[in-house]
This record gives sequence, C-alpha cells and structure tokens, in this order.
Amino acid sequence: ALIVRHRMRSSGCWARAMAILREFEEKCGTPIGKLRQVADAMTVEMHAGLASEGGSKLKMLISYVDNLPTGDEKGLFYALDLGGTNFRVLRVQLGGKVGHVLKQEFVEVSIPPHLMVGTSDALFDFIAAELAKFVSTEGQGFHLSPGRQRELGFTFSFPVNQLSIASGTLMKWTKGFSIDDTIGKDVVAELTKAMERQGLDMRVAALVNDTIGTLAGGIYYDNDVIAAVILGTGTNAAYVERAHAIPKWHGLLPKSGEMVINMEWGNFRSSHLPLTDYDHALDAESLNPGEQIFEKIISGMYLGDIVRRVLCRMAEEAAFFGDTIPPKLKVPFILSFILKYQWDAAVALTVGDNMSGLSMQDGWALISNSRTPDMSAMHHDTSFDLRVVGKKLKDILGISNTSLKTRKVVVELCDIVATRGARLSAAGILGILKKLGRDTVKEGEKQRTVIAMDGGLFEHYTEFRMCLESTLKEELLGEEVSESIVIMLSNDGSGIGAALLAASHSQYLEVEES
Ligand code: GLC
Repeated sequence: ALIVRHRMRSSGCWARAMAILREFEEKCGTPIGKLRQVADAMTVEMHAGLASEGGSKLKMLISYVDNLPTGDEKGLFYALDLGGTNFRVLRVQLGGKVGHVLKQEFVEVSIPPHLMVGTSDALFDFIAAELAKFVSTEGQGFHLSPGRQRELGFTFSFPVNQLSIASGTLMKWTKGFSIDDTIGKDVVAELTKAMERQGLDMRVAALVNDTIGTLAGGIYYDNDVIAAVILGTGTNAAYVERAHAIPKWHGLLPKSGEMVINMEWGNFRSSHLPLTDYDHALDAESLNPGEQIFEKIISGMYLGDIVRRVLCRMAEEAAFFGDTIPPKLKVPFILSFILKYQWDAAVALTVGDNMSGLSMQDGWALISNSRTPDMSAMHHDTSFDLRVVGKKLKDILGISNTSLKTRKVVVELCDIVATRGARLSAAGILGILKKLGRDTVKEGEKQRTVIAMDGGLFEHYTEFRMCLESTLKEELLGEEVSESIVIMLSNDGSGIGAALLAASHSQYLEVEES
C-alpha cells in the first residue's frame, strides 16, 4: 500500500511539473503573427527614436561614423574591446588594400568580477595596465612609422552618448556592470587618464560600440553589409541609415549622406513581447530593473537563469527533483545578488538564509557555471541517455541520479527558452529590413543584403542560430527576398572594425593625404 501511495503521489507530482512546463511553453509562444507584430513595433520605435532625443525606448544613438572602411586603411593600429566578462586587446598591421590584414595578434583577459562593480579608476587602471603589457610585446611584423604616436580604436559596448568620433559619455551600464561613478563621464577621457597613469603613450582615435565595430569589420570584407547584430552576453544591432532620415541630427550632412546608428535594441520593449512571470521576476531582481527587457529574454547572460527559475518552480511545487529542493537551484538570481554589492562588502557579508547557506565560493562557482554555455551543452546533448544533461545537473546544481525522463524535460525547457530568444531576434532583424525597405524585392532589382553577426550565443549555440535563420528566411521573408539575404558570422569583426575606424580617423591622415 505504501508503494502504491508513493507511486500515486509521484505521478501526481509529475503531472503538476508538466503543467508548469506547458503553461510556460504557452506563454513563451511566438507564432508568426506575433513575430510580425514585434517586427512592426520595432520599425515604429526606430522611427520614433530617430525623430527626437528620448522619443523612444530605442535610443537610436548617432555613432559619428559616416564613412565605413574602404580598404585604404594602412599601418599599425590597436583595438581594445570591453563589453562582456572578457576584454580583448588587439593589434593589426593593415595593408592598404581591401581585406588586407598583414598581421594581427590579440590577447583576451577576463575581468575580475569585483572590478565590474567597483570604481571607475580601478576598472580603467586594470584595462590600461593590460594594454600596456600587450604593447610591450609588440614584435616582428608590426611597424609604426617613425615619430608617430600609437593609435587605438576603443570598442566600448554600452550605451554611450557620442559627442564626436572619439568621445562620448556613458549613459548607463548593462550586462552585469554597475559602477556609478562612470555614468555621465567621457569614457575616452577615463581611459586616456588611466593610460597616462601607466605611462602609455597612445591616443584613442575612435570610440565605437561593438555593433558598430562589427559593421565596420564586416564591410571591410563584404561591401553589401548593411547591418550588424550582436548576440552574446547582451544583444544589440546597428545599421547604416540615410542621414536625412534622422530628424534629430542637427549637425552637418555628411558627405557620404549616411550615418551609422547604434540602436541599443536590448532596451526595446513592446506589449507584443511574450513575457512570463519568470521574466518579470528575473527583471525585478536584476541590476537594472525595468530596463533592457528585449535583452533579458534573448541574450546569453539571462537565458540560463530563466531555465533555472522554471526548474526551481518545478522543484518547489512539484517535487521535480525529489522531496528536497536542491539548495543551489533556490538561490534567487545569484548573479544579481553578487553583482549588486561592492565586492568587499559582499565578501564581508555572512551569507544569510536567503542564500540557502551557500558560501561566497559556491556563489562564484555558480556564477561561472550557471550561464548559458551550460544550457547550450544540455540542449545539444545527443547521447541516448542524455548523460551531458545528467552531468551538468550534478556538477552545477548538485542533483544526482536524475532519470532520463527528467533530463528530457530539462532539454525541452532549454528548447523553449532558446527558441523564444532566437525567433524574437529574427523578428528584430525583420524590423530593420522593413525600415530599410529590404524586406521585399523591388521590381527588376536583385540587391544583396548582408547582416554581420557576432557574439557567443550566435557563434556557439547552434540550435539558437539555426532557429534564428530558419525563422527569418523560411517564415518571415518570402522566398525571393530570402535568396538575397545573407546572415554572416563576422568573427571578432568588432576588434578589426575598431582598428579600421581608428585608421580612418587617424590624426596623421590629413598629412598623409596632402
Ligand atoms: C548591451 C549594451 C550594448 C551592446 C550589447 C552587446 O546591450 O548595452 O551597447 O552592444 O550589449 O554587447
């Protein structure tokens, strides 16, 4: 009798867990009609953001890039890419012909998490020190013309109110950074001062967002690139706009007639977005509540945490992982908890009840473990017994001996979350194509349209990428248009792009041309 009762109970639990899963799936639904509404809303907001400052949630930032690389760029240039958990420094020797990079070298350094929430000086000192170290290793194959100062393209992937091509003030942090005293400051001045403190003689020639860098890097190799999309820790897009279609631009009309716009689409929001209770909770507990809503349902920083939240509910309300709730699963948006406080204060904190008895070390282990790469690994598990899923659940969340049935549910959950993100990204791209009138084929005209893509989510999360591409090409665009649209991975286009823009805005250019 005992066994029967136990079976009945567990089958009741299973039904309850499935009900939670199905309800979530339904709320995440992105039928084609909804995606079209999202795309239309995106186009509308693009117009509004271009019309006036603050006219929309979409900031539609003017980049001051009105000339994209031509191939004439020549010489040694550096680039620095800050925007996720890692930053990269890069040097390239440009050959002066299209796509002609003679030599390039880079290093990638991970940013100690406490610097992401510390002080402005501490962050910039760290970056400048790494840059100085890298410069000191400059060797064969790189030539700086005598008497010249080294020049740098600075890719800074946060919303910046650009004042010129080489200056701009930080509007707000996103993606887990939170350093109050940088807000409102010119980030180029901050970096320049830090370089001086390091005794490094270098000039920032261009300040760009990663989307702008990717666009510039993309065009260098393919002239038909019209937009760039980042799908990584965060998400964003940039595209080439006609200058006279930007009513809020009161400056001189650029010679090219064009201006690159950084949309900051991560902050897009619309009543058509399929948001669930889990998304609302994640947002509320995040570092930037109410902001970057599109980003929070699409990008790599958040997808894994949405999965965790649903699993947590299933554990709590349907004993999905047995009678006890795995403590690590219960930690409420641990990423946010850690980042919310200064590092020192966080270390000093004795971990209270709300942390389910986890130590700070556990917290850090979770931070580095509970991000989307694990979700991607589970989602792509093709073994018959889903052993990758089993191992991840054990290693990350301390849940051992999961049944195949349970693992299948976890995979399905990853699929629901990734599919929603990928399909919404496709809708965002359709919004841009619509704005540019490239969502239909003009009579007698076959125009190629290339979108340069970058970011770990796009590059490494195969299911995500395939879903995005098929949604855009097979569902949202007609067959004829699809043939002319190319989605191109522009791997580290943003670093090269920033170096190219530094070259085309070099202080030595006039001298050279005359
Ligand atoms: C965030 C930033 C944005 C950046 C994007 C991708 O959305 O605000 O500037 O382009 O992440 O890195």
